[in-house]
Amino acid sequence: MSDPAPDAATPDPDLLIEFDSVNLRRDGRNLVGPIDWRVELDERWVIIGPNGAGKTSLMRMAAAEVYPTSGTANLLGEPRHKAVAQDLSSRIGVCSAALAARVPADELVTDLVVSAGYSVLGRWREQYDGVDIARAVDMLESMGAEHLANRRYGTLSEGERKRVMISRALMTDPELMLLDEPAAGLDLGGREELVARLSTLALDPDAPAIVLVTHHVEEIPPGFTHAMLLKEGEVVTQGLLTDVLTAESLSETFSQRIVLERSGKRYFARRAARPGRRRLQS
Ligand SMILES: Nc1ncnc2c1ncn2[C@@H]1O[C@H](COP(=O)(O)OP(=O)(O)OP(=O)(O)O)[C@@H](O)[C@H]1O
Ligand SMILES: [Mg+2]
Repeated sequence: MSDPAPDAATPDPDLLIEFDSVNLRRDGRNLVGPIDWRVELDERWVIIGPNGAGKTSLMRMAAAEVYPTSGTANLLGEPRHKAVAQDLSSRIGVCSAALAARVPADELVTDLVVSAGYSVLGRWREQYDGVDIARAVDMLESMGAEHLANRRYGTLSEGERKRVMISRALMTDPELMLLDEPAAGLDLGGREELVARLSTLALDPDAPAIVLVTHHVEEIPPGFTHAMLLKEGEVVTQGLLTDVLTAESLSETFSQRIVLERSGKRYFARRAARPGRRRLQS
């Protein structure tokens, strides 16, 4: 069978993601790229960009769900096509709306988490190993969701679902974790709870490399080290978070003048007031 994946040069074994001039095209349109991107084991990346910027498309290439149309892509120190043959699903933990949408409503939370270790989603009829069940409970506990273990997925709130899906992504002790908008749909308390949990994970030297997609700088957990800003499929800037996350780069990315503030280890952004605007008289 011919392999449509771009042929890779010698992969660097220390790089989890190694993209050189990677593009993803659909219907004659460039969705994302050209992108050069390198992610190392101890790095925690945040990807920021407006709707349609190509963030999810980039995550799908990093999760080996889609092939780049062109360029060189190595994942987990393997050429892209070879790595796929080895089945990356246990080595890359994914939490995305697309995956969550495929979970049957009547799935038991423990089954959903433990089944990640068997690379299946949905009702799994085999007997699980007791060790795996214990690990699933541990993972739920690490996300503050152990009390949900016996609930059905369809009955959970949005925030509870997010925590369960991240527990599932952690279940296989992956080398790389890809989180596409995990805070979407959460209320303020839920968001803060998730940011704190992700911060704990980010600061844990034994945790996998993490790539987190978000629209909001308020959702960047302390401990994240790198950022990529994407606009219309292209990289505006990427590198160390403290270097690249600036009012200027955000303004360019979101095509409006943005004010960025930092309070402790958290970021806050808003649109700059337009100069010369008269106040309404009361
Ligand atoms: N399979 C596809 N075929 C054609 N166009 C697609 C396909 N998948 C995505 N697109 C388009 O590619 C662009 C980037 O989509 P993508 O989902 O990657 O954006 P995003 O940055 O994740 O946006 P959002 O913040 O809204 O989630 C969008 O214009 C989208 O409509
Ligand atoms: Mg998206």
